[in-house]
Amino acid sequence: MALDTTALNRRMTHFDDHDDLWLFGYGSLIWKADFPYLERRPARIHGWVRRFWQGSHDHRGTPEAPGRVATLIAEEGATCLGMAYRITPETLRPLDVREKNGYLRELTPLHFEDGTTAMGLTYLATADNAAFLGAAPLDDMARQIAGAEGPSGPNRDYLLHLETALAELGVTETHVSELARRVRLAGEPDRCDTGRPEDDTLRVQ
Ligand code: SIN
Repeated sequence: MALDTTALNRRMTHFDDHDDLWLFGYGSLIWKADFPYLERRPARIHGWVRRFWQGSHDHRGTPEAPGRVATLIAEEGATCLGMAYRITPETLRPLDVREKNGYLRELTPLHFEDGTTAMGLTYLATADNAAFLGAAPLDDMARQIAGAEGPSGPNRDYLLHLETALAELGVTETHVSELARRVRLAGEPDRCDTGRPEDDTLRVQ
C-alpha cells in the first residue's frame, strides 16, 4: 500500500508567506484544474521528461490493481511542457490530498513562452516512493492502463485526456501518443497491434 505524502508536503513551507506562487502541472493537473487559480499559462521545465511510471492506487487504480499515471524523470537536456497555475498558498492544501499517493512538492524553475522565468512548485513522484512502478515495455504499460480503474475513473481516460491536452498545447510526445495508440487498440476486440517501432524517447516538439 502506498505511503500518504500529505503530512510530508505540509512540512514544505517554502511559499507559505507568499501572496501567490506558480504551480507546474504536467499530468492530470494540465487537464483537470478543479482548484481555484488566479491565472494559468503554458510553461516548460528543463531537465525532466514525462513518464507513466507512477502507480495510482487511489485515483486511477486500486491497491490490488494499480493504474499508471505520470511523473517526471530527470533527463539531461530534456524539456517538459505543461501548464503553470498562479495560485495562493492555501490552494496547496487540497492539492496535497489529491497528490498524496507518492507525490512530493518540489521546487523548480518555470520557463514561460514570453521568455520570463519564475521559481515554482511541481508535484514529483520519485523512484523511492512506495507507489512507484518504473519503466516497462510500452505494450505492458498500455495493457495495465487499459485494464485499470479507480475512484476517479478509468485509467485510460487519464492518458487520453493528457494526449488531447498536449495536442491543444501544440505538442505530440512519443511516450504519451504511443501509449494512447496501444490503449485504443486494446479497446478494439480482434485487432492486434501491427507494431510500430517502440520509440520511447520523448522531447517536446
Ligand atoms: C501533475 O499533473 O502535475 C502531477 C501528476 C498528476 O496529478 O497527474
